[in-house]
Amino acid sequence: MCLSLIGCGSKSNTSSAGQGSAPKSSFTPGSVLVVFFSRAGEQYNVGVIKKGNTAIVAEMIADRTGADLYEVRPEKESNYNVGYEKLTEIGLQEKRDKARPEIAGTLPDLSKYDTIFFGTPVWWEDWPMIMYTFFENNKLSGKKLIPFVTHAGSGMCGLDQKLAAVYPNCELLTGIAIVGEQAQKDPGPVKETVNNWLENLGF
Ligand SMILES: Cc1cc2nc3c(=O)[nH]c(=O)nc-3n(C[C@H](O)[C@H](O)[C@H](O)COP(=O)(O)O)c2cc1C
Repeated sequence: MCLSLIGCGSKSNTSSAGQGSAPKSSFTPGSVLVVFFSRAGEQYNVGVIKKGNTAIVAEMIADRTGADLYEVRPEKESNYNVGYEKLTEIGLQEKRDKARPEIAGTLPDLSKYDTIFFGTPVWWEDWPMIMYTFFENNKLSGKKLIPFVTHAGSGMCGLDQKLAAVYPNCELLTGIAIVGEQAQKDPGPVKETVNNWLENLGF
């Protein structure tokens, strides 16, 4: 992928971090879930990685909050077992087609969770289409939703607002955007940033 696809402007590497909108201690233990999609293999500027950038951030969030983790995995994993350039083409085609790739395994029971973090790599300035499969198969209302993304320079790219649009009956809290390469290569400072953000959210 050339950097030309990075379009949203990179001013928000840590989108609105530090402006948490939830009061302290407003979260009940056991009621927090992290739902994320991420891809190991060859990725932008990091070579071939064993753990995806977003997965690293998802685990940081779970470490700090004690949240359960749920990874959205494609039914046809082999579709994404390709090099980085090819993956960008597949992602673009899925977006153009408004594809809804199937998710492997059973979806989690979301009823016991009050607060759900949704994490993803930015794909073509959007959520990967498989996340829309998840959203459409899991109707939610009355929950607190917190987006986090990793990216190669475009920042949050409005994915927070897209999440709010998908779930109009939920409350959107302040999300965060992390440069994926930094999470992969220099996780220490990223963890600090993530922990500060979580603290401001009340965790
Ligand atoms: C299909 C595809 C599309 C991408 N589109 C963007 C984009 O629009 N903006 C951006 O900053 N990065 C983009 N990237 C880079 C990824 O968001 C970034 O490398 C991310 O950290 C990968 O996370 P993961 O390892 O959890 O999958 C794209 C990557 C792929 C594979």
